[in-house]
This record gives sequence, structure tokens and C-alpha cells, in this order.
Amino acid sequence: MTPLVIAIDGPAAAGKGTLARRIAAHLGLPYLDTGLLYRAVGRRVLDRGADPRDAAIAEAEARALDPADLDRPDLRGPQADHAASAVAAIPAVRAALLEFQRSFGRARGAVLDGRDIGTVVFPEAAVKLFVTASPEERARRRFLELRGRGIAADPDQVLAEIRDRDAQDANRPVAPLKPAPDAIVIDTTALDADAAFAVALAEIGQRLAGR
Ligand code: DC
Repeated sequence: MTPLVIAIDGPAAAGKGTLARRIAAHLGLPYLDTGLLYRAVGRRVLDRGADPRDAAIAEAEARALDPADLDRPDLRGPQADHAASAVAAIPAVRAALLEFQRSFGRARGAVLDGRDIGTVVFPEAAVKLFVTASPEERARRRFLELRGRGIAADPDQVLAEIRDRDAQDANRPVAPLKPAPDAIVIDTTALDADAAFAVALAEIGQRLAGR
């Protein structure tokens, strides 16, 4: 039997990471946050003092990526967000990271979250969820998360950054953020983490029953 792959895509701060982690733990599957791959590549480019939009340097850093880079403590925050979004728009970077993601999923099955898991990385995934929420609600969650980590932020600026990143991720020509045609869309605007988990489990159960 082919290992079970669950693809979870959606925009920033929609709750897909929390959801993906819980689903993985519940089903006993490995979990990969694929955004971390792009974040780590962005950081490596910044380490070199280069511009994350530089395709040749970003590709070289994607090819040189070391799994230990994913444990770096500086992969979050506005600078890392921005660098990740920039390298993620470069086709050669995406190509370099594709095999890593596929091998991870094929080894023992997995839950992967990102932007293009159901459309590009695992178009044959048994279950695809597209987790979204309104930009205002996502900005509110991101603001609270930052505050919880002791980082001062301006709510309007957080919302502007969310909108910017949505536009950058959705409008890029390569692997733009969009639900796969067979994805189950879960809007978490009015759902807390427990409610979103319950909805997702019910949907996954139905999909797997029909397999
Ligand atoms: O999910 P995240 O915020 O950690 O993602 C960081 C950036 O990487 C974001 O701009 C979108 C991009 N990304 C992507 O293009 N494809 C993925 N599979 C995961 C993330």
C-alpha cells in the first residue's frame, strides 16, 4: 500500500501548522513544515549578505541546505518572512526543494503543510486540506502570537504584511497559492484550534473511507 500523505495548504497564519501537527500526532505520521525549508534558504542567502531575490545565489543555497538549518532559532519574524517569500518565488529554488519534500513523504507517509503540497509536491495525496481564514483574523492571530513571544508589533502593520505576503504568494507565476481542485476547504475564521481539528478529522475520515 502506498504510504498515507495528507497535504495541508493555505495562507500564512490560517492555523495550518497547529492543525497539521495535531493531525500528524493523532494519526502517528511524520510531520513536515515546508515553510521552514524556504525560511532556511532565505536565511542562508541573508548570511551571505546577498539579496534573497538573487536566483543564482538562492538556488545554490537551496541545494546546499542542511536539515540542521531547519532548527535555526532565527527562522521567524518579519525579516525571515520576507526572505522566505522572496526565495519561494524562484523556480530553481522550488525545484531544488521538491525532491526533499517528496522523499520525506514517501518514506513513511506524512502530513506536510505549505502552499503547493496538494497542487505540486503531492498531487496524488489521499487527502488535501486548504486551510484559510480572513486576512483580518489571520492578522489578529499573528499579532497575538508576536505579543506572546514578547515582540512589540503594530496591528495595522501586521495586517499590511499579511496582505503583502498573500499577494506575493498568490501572484507568483510558479506554484502560486491556490486550492487544488480536489482540496477540502476549511475556513477557520470562526473556528478555534479544537473546532478546526474536529472538522478536519471528520473530513479526513470521510475521504479515507471513500478510498
Ligand atoms: O508557511 P510559512 O509562512 O512558514 O512560509 C514561508 C514562505 O514560504 C511563504 O512566503 C510561502 C513560502 N512557501 C511556499 O512557497 N511553498 C511552501 N510549500 C511553503 C512555504
